[in-house]
Amino acid sequence: MARKLIVGNWKMNSSLSANHDLLHAINAGLTSTSCQAAVCVPAPYLAQGQQLLNGGALALGAQDVSAHEQGAFTGEVSAAMLRDFSVRYAIVGHSERRQYHGETDAVVASKAQRALAAGITPIVCVGETLAEREAGHTAEVVKRQLAAVIHTNGHCISEIVVAYEPVWAIGTGKTATPEQAQEVHALLRAQLAAATEHPERIALLYGGSMNAANAASLLAQHDIDGGLIGGASLKAADFLSIVAAASQ
Ligand code: PGA
Repeated sequence: MARKLIVGNWKMNSSLSANHDLLHAINAGLTSTSCQAAVCVPAPYLAQGQQLLNGGALALGAQDVSAHEQGAFTGEVSAAMLRDFSVRYAIVGHSERRQYHGETDAVVASKAQRALAAGITPIVCVGETLAEREAGHTAEVVKRQLAAVIHTNGHCISEIVVAYEPVWAIGTGKTATPEQAQEVHALLRAQLAAATEHPERIALLYGGSMNAANAASLLAQHDIDGGLIGGASLKAADFLSIVAAASQ
């Protein structure tokens, strides 16, 4: 990876006025030497994001995308609609969607496919629960989740971003140690190497309680190419500290 990638996942937070201040502050803090950065905002704020970011250094992302192209799917947002708002990235298969909305590996793979077909980079999330880790199933779970996406998206696979987000580390303040994260990232890189000639082009992000204090040690790992940041992406100073750590 030439430059690291830091992506904010705002989840279902913020408001029209708070977004305004947050996006202005982040934009103002980015420098020409900053790593790549993006924010995945709630869907109703995409128009505001498009207007405020205006094709600048901070890229716009969505938190989900429909597995369907168009039609009678009430409440869904299609990849083409996201494209209308200059969206560059769409998170797919976040553990909160898998857990609360019953998204299967097959649905996640279709979502990635829809995003890719619209020219949007899917950020494919994989990760094990605490019970799965304790049972020694981490490798099996993340490989199965990624395999579904590889299988469905074949030759396009070098166009995706992968985020390893251990479910037990999300929003809990319990970060994976750099060694734990690196171990899984190395597995994912090896799996991608079997599917594409250029696995090094695929950014492998770590997510799960990454913050200003722990970002540098995680990002120093060989196969950690950036971060997917939840809570700490809602404060400009914290998000910019992580961007600075990734820009070394
Ligand atoms: P967190 O969330 O940084 O608040 O743990 C990360 C994520 O869910 O993407």
